[in-house]
Order: sequence, then structure tokens, then C-alpha cells
Amino acid sequence: MSKNPTPLDRVREFEREQAMKLSAEERPLFHLTPLVGWMNDPNGFCWYKGQYHLFYQYHPFSRQWGPMHWGHAVSDDLLHWTYMPCALAPDTAADAGGCFSGSAVPMPDGRLMLVYTGVQPAGTFRRETQAQCLAVGDGTDFEKSLLNPVIRHAHLPEGYSEFDFRDPKVWRDDDGMYRLVVSNRHEEKAGTVLLMESRDGLDWSFVTEIDASCREYGQMWECPDFFRLDGKDVLIVSPQEMHAREEFHAGYGTVAVLGQYDGKERAFRRESVQPVDHGLTFYAPQTTLAPDGRRIMIGWMDNWETCKEAPRRHPWYAQMSAPREVFIENGRLCQRPVREIEGLWQDTLRYDDIPVCNEMPLPGVQGRLMDMTVSLNMKDSSCRRFTLKAARDSSHYVEIRCDLARGELVFDRSHGGSHRDIAHTRHVIAEPKDGKLSLRLLMDKESIELFINGGERVVTSLIPTPLDAEGITFAADAPVAMSVEAHHLR
Ligand code: FRU
Repeated sequence: MSKNPTPLDRVREFEREQAMKLSAEERPLFHLTPLVGWMNDPNGFCWYKGQYHLFYQYHPFSRQWGPMHWGHAVSDDLLHWTYMPCALAPDTAADAGGCFSGSAVPMPDGRLMLVYTGVQPAGTFRRETQAQCLAVGDGTDFEKSLLNPVIRHAHLPEGYSEFDFRDPKVWRDDDGMYRLVVSNRHEEKAGTVLLMESRDGLDWSFVTEIDASCREYGQMWECPDFFRLDGKDVLIVSPQEMHAREEFHAGYGTVAVLGQYDGKERAFRRESVQPVDHGLTFYAPQTTLAPDGRRIMIGWMDNWETCKEAPRRHPWYAQMSAPREVFIENGRLCQRPVREIEGLWQDTLRYDDIPVCNEMPLPGVQGRLMDMTVSLNMKDSSCRRFTLKAARDSSHYVEIRCDLARGELVFDRSHGGSHRDIAHTRHVIAEPKDGKLSLRLLMDKESIELFINGGERVVTSLIPTPLDAEGITFAADAPVAMSVEAHHLR
């Protein structure tokens, strides 16, 4: 280290010391965890110089949220991650209160541009303010612009907040312009998403407001993303303080608004609104475009309520979700685990048309590292209830209870080992299609991600269950034909 180490030098030194002490064994197999300390939102997710880069909201010095840095990891396949040195520390006047969430875009000259929220600490009589900052670098080291913050409250029309103004998601269009969406809390409309544009990344102008909550879908909208997919323009936001309505649960949610954006009119027309994920622990997702054109999404596999009560068993806290490919089917945003996961498949087991009634295991189908698809064929069956228990031992289990008559399932981790008074169940629509229901479970030690009917709905949840609870059982109230394809993961 140099004689006068900067705050970033000190974090990087701390990371080197910690890295030597930490074992990979304890970590999930393929879900990204922070090198050390605390992690929240995925940031700067991009394909750059032949690799995926994923940055994350990071507090290296404890397993609680604290002054925000950007952690960094790279991967060839979205599943095996290599840690890079911490990318940003809160060390300038424009971001002394934290380097909050943001995004990355490769520049035509080969450098990588990061756009993030700088938090300026409160002065006398003023609350802390938020504005957008720029840093440019080579994929490892980034230089912050001396003009930071490059997007200020003064850029916005009246009525928008200088206190809740964050999480820019940037891209570069074919016309050579940088564009970004950013969240802002409007006086009357609550959460809004604003579109801004710039030729050089330094000089930005306000284009339009893409959409607003108007208190229908929560208050402040965090971490927006905006992209074109299969003929739709998709806006994703993570609202705070949602009221339960339709398929949305109360609290921290994820919302996808599908519609059409007219660039000439500068207007977005809503067509439909749906939750992105129905689980207990999924928030602040971010997407990027893979070189082959797939739109890949990763979320923080947690939320601001559940993380408070979650056990801190490792020298790090929190995980990202599995990377998912998103696509539109029947007018809905759907998701499937990226196909790279097939590279982890080992010892595949297949059972076809097994009659299930009384609770039963299947030989070889057990463990906490698994990609398993269960399909029920309801033809000629009077089965109304089907129950799958996983992560099971004599005192624990996580349960998926399907009510086939109502077309609904309950994901229930109440018996998963937590003694905390937080949400443990979620009700989700799960309707058999042409007499079939399919459930794909991705299990990676302390999490389950459930993809219903090929990903039309997804339920993501951390489970605190001891790792030796490995049992899996199936039961139905009347005989039903079940097929199972189970891949152990390695
Ligand atoms: C979302 C969020 C963002 C913010 C970041 C701070 O989870 O609250 O709005 O930028 O986390 O860590």
C-alpha cells in the first residue's frame, strides 16, 4: 500500500486479508455472496471485455448495512464468480454519505462508465441529499468525475425531490446517446421514474417522466430498469410500503409494468402491471443484455424487512438470486434460470408417471443442491391437494402446498428453522395448464427459487434450515401421476 492510502486502498487491503481467511465451502454453490460483510442491491450488471461484471451495494466492515461501497465480481457463465477489488468507496464530497445503487455501460472508447447515486451528508438544517455521479475506468479501477454530481436536483422540473433521487440505470442507444432511468419521489405522485439523456455522460438533460405510482403501487420506487423485450417496453421498479392488492403482497415489492414507449411523444403507455417475483426475499433486480441477446436479470435475494431478522452465520451476509433469463409469454414477464445452469447438472434422476398418494420420498431425490422439475398430470385424477416438502429432517421442512382446485399454491417456510415473527408464507397463483402443473425448484443450500409453469410466476426465498435437512417428500390427497427430473448440482 502507498504511504498515504486512500479509503479505497484501505478497503482493498482489508479485502485481501479477509479473502485469505474465508472458505468457499461455506458459500452457496452458484449464488453470489459479498466477499466479506454486507451486500444489498446488484449494481452495474453488464457484459464488458468478454465477461459479466456484477457490482453490489457493499459494506465490507460489518454484516449490517453501513456506508455504501461498490463490491465487484466477474464471471464467464453467471454462476462461477471471481472477486475483484472493491470498485467504489464513499470518499468525495459528492458521495461522502454513500455510493448508492447504479449501473454500468461500456463506452465506445473501450472504457466502462459507472453511473451511481452519490449521497451528500446532511449539513446544518438540511437532510442528506441524493444526486447522480459518474466514474469511468478499465473494469478494475474507476476515476470519479470532478464534475460530480453530474445529475442534480436542478436538472428536474418542479415537484421532484432532492432527498429521494436515486438508482440510475444507464444504457447507450443506437443513436449514440446515453440514456438512463432514475427514481424520484414526487410531491404528489409518490414514486416516479424519470428518463434523462446525454451525449457524453457528463451533460444530462431531463426527457420525461416514464411512469408514476400515484400511491397505487407503493411509495418511493427504488431501482428502476427499463428495456425492450419481445415487442414490449418493460419498466421494473421496487416499491417501498406497498399495500397488498391483487397479486401484490404488502411491504417491499417488485413490479413490472409492461407497455409501449413512444420516443417521439415521450410517453409510456401502460398495458399491464404484475409482480416480478412473489417470494419472501427478492428485491431491487437489475438486468443486462447477454452477447447472444438474452435479457438476464439478477435480484438481491432479500428485502429490507426480512434481512433484519435473518441469522448471520457466515462472515458475509446476503446473496444474489440465481441469474434468470426474462421473456414475455402470453403478455406476462416470465423467467427461467439461465441455461448455463445445465453445466452444473450431475447425477440426473428421472421418474415418469409415478402414482403419488401417501407421503413418499423418491430414491436418490434428496439434498440441498438441486435443480428439480416436478410435473403433475391431472388427467383422470381427482387429486385436489398436492404437497411437496423439501429441506426436511425430523424437525424441519419447507412446504409447497398446491390447491389444484383453486389454482393456487402456498410457499411456506414456517417450519424452516426460524423463530422470528416475520412473514414465512406466500400465496401464489399456480393454475394447471391443459391438466398439467409444473414446479421447478432450484435449491442452493440456504435458498429455494420456485419457477411455476415454466416461469410464469416465481417464488424466491432464503431458508434458514440446517444444511443436513436434506429430505424431499411428495404427497397427494388422491392418486395423481407425477414425473420428476432431478439434477444434483456440483
Ligand atoms: C434499494 C436501495 C436503493 C439504494 C440502496 C442503498 O434496496 O434502498 O434505493 O440506492 O438500496 O444501499
